[in-house]
Amino acid sequence: MEEQDNSRKKVVLVDDNITILTMGNFILNEKYDVFTIPSGIKLFKLLEKVVPDLILLDIEMPEMTGYEVIKKLKADPSTAGIPVIFLTAKTDMGSELEGLTLGAIDYLSKPFSPPLLLKRIELHLLVETQKRELLNFNNNLLEMVRVKTETLLDMQNSILKTVADLVEYRDEITGGHVERTRKYLEFLLDAMVEQKIYLDEIAEWDREFLLQSSQLHDLGKISIRDAILLKPGKLDADEFEVMKSHTVFGVKIIDEIEKHTPENSFLTHAKIFAGTHHEKWNGTGYPGGLAGKDIPLQGRLMAIADVYDALISVRPYKKPLTHEEASNIIIEGKGTHFDPVLTDLYASVADKFARFINDQS
Ligand SMILES: [Fe+2]
Ligand SMILES: [Fe+2]
Repeated sequence: MEEQDNSRKKVVLVDDNITILTMGNFILNEKYDVFTIPSGIKLFKLLEKVVPDLILLDIEMPEMTGYEVIKKLKADPSTAGIPVIFLTAKTDMGSELEGLTLGAIDYLSKPFSPPLLLKRIELHLLVETQKRELLNFNNNLLEMVRVKTETLLDMQNSILKTVADLVEYRDEITGGHVERTRKYLEFLLDAMVEQKIYLDEIAEWDREFLLQSSQLHDLGKISIRDAILLKPGKLDADEFEVMKSHTVFGVKIIDEIEKHTPENSFLTHAKIFAGTHHEKWNGTGYPGGLAGKDIPLQGRLMAIADVYDALISVRPYKKPLTHEEASNIIIEGKGTHFDPVLTDLYASVADKFARFINDQS
């Protein structure tokens, strides 16, 4: 036996003819670690310990033919990837085709010429190495794309959060409103999935995108001047008209951003939230005066979250309502202010809202 070398490839020669095994070993052993095996059954014994780089397989053998051996190899995921070359005395086209159909990569007829045998083996081992390298390369590429996408999403999220915070800082009266409404939306979304409500529509949504973009629903408030936004009392009619424009301004700003980043699905949600969260089911809301299901589902959901939060929050001119008081107002708004189906949905998870605001205070 010559010395073991880890870089040497392992080639298995399976043949019931001892002369072929001896001769094959003689030819191959200079370049490869050769395993000479007299039957298919013994091959599978060897495969329990050794993973060869290539198998040279005789077709006509007693007990188990080469065809049976290759079928068994290909059926087992741990051996299916080992390249197999058939060796046979048969030269008719039929058996050659059959061998290749079963997954052999090549077909060599006996008796073989030593240089030809070596060249063919060398070639196939090279192809296998390149196949593996290509696979690794593809996997690395996929991993790179995954990391890049993740970084991009992280960046997008942090920009979005910063913008939402900016809006919030200016409007110090409503501190925490953005975070809380996002939480209420989560309660409502979970309940929609559980109770199978408007499933067709929400199936199209990316939950994370939706929740994140909800944080921009009052984005347009950055365009409202301090005297109105921060007025320590109730707004008069004119001031209220200005305040209402935060919806259309929000849409305008997002439109502007979208011009530079087309096909951004989270901005689509954000725009809908900004533009429709003050619409009412009976058509008396703003800015569009949309009614019923003409109001996008995002807007109908946010209407409940937004009003609930305004009711339980302190304002310079009003005390916060208790959860029960706020809840009653929401439920009374069923079919007038709010989508009746969503109002019932809210009622079914109202205790979650109560627990959440209790934990906050
Ligand atoms: Fe708003
Ligand atoms: Fe709001």
